[in-house]
Amino acid sequence: MIKKPVTDFDSRRLLVSPSLLAADFANLSSEIKRVETAGADLLHLDIMDGHFVPNLTMGPPVVAAIRKHSMLTFDTHLMITNPIQYVKPFSKAGADHITFHLESDDNPNETIRAIREEGCSAGISIKPATPASALVNYIDKIDLVLVMTVEPGFGGQSFMADMIPKVAEIRELAERLNPRLHIEVDGGIDGETVRQIVPAGANMVVAGTAVFRAEDGAQAAIERLHNAQKLLPVH
Ligand code: DX5
Ligand code: ZN
Repeated sequence: MIKKPVTDFDSRRLLVSPSLLAADFANLSSEIKRVETAGADLLHLDIMDGHFVPNLTMGPPVVAAIRKHSMLTFDTHLMITNPIQYVKPFSKAGADHITFHLESDDNPNETIRAIREEGCSAGISIKPATPASALVNYIDKIDLVLVMTVEPGFGGQSFMADMIPKVAEIRELAERLNPRLHIEVDGGIDGETVRQIVPAGANMVVAGTAVFRAEDGAQAAIERLHNAQKLLPVH
């Protein structure tokens, strides 16, 4: 299976990754088509294990089933304990990119290696309480940092504006150590909050509720997010 990792994308572009968590789960294939034709750049898959976070979502069989219905890069966000155990199953199911949580893993370097062995790009996510400094030893070894702008576990929560300086700090670190790094933000992102976080240096935005449940449709919602392109600091 040919992978389409995030390294195929320019990190100076504002990229939109709709979170499937907010879709109608009874109609996944048509929901994916809907955001694909509306201009989504990637598809964000939230994988929760009921242990690392107090919620359960989907496993590899669901990912394999939807793989047949989409050409989009599957941006897989593992919110699970012991992520290394599931790298291969999610890759085999069709993940192109895999992000795991720094807080869930005691050997991030091994997990990064396992992800790369599968031909996927690798990302690390940090929860709101984890500082940017925790990433220093990994930033030049990964392709993406995912900054949670809500506590992971549920869609539809409010954006935490106090994460803005953290994104700026990570962009500064990336300038020195890994200029091609994608910085993704996840949680409470819509047409308003995107304008607060992109100037700090986030170039990839996850949006569940704001895209799948937009009153004026997914295309208008994705356009509102893409409009923040002009606020992205050139790096
Ligand atoms: C939360 C998930 C998010 C969530 C975002 O744990 O990681 O991806 O689906 O949903 P919204 O955009 O509705 O905040
Ligand atoms: Zn997510």
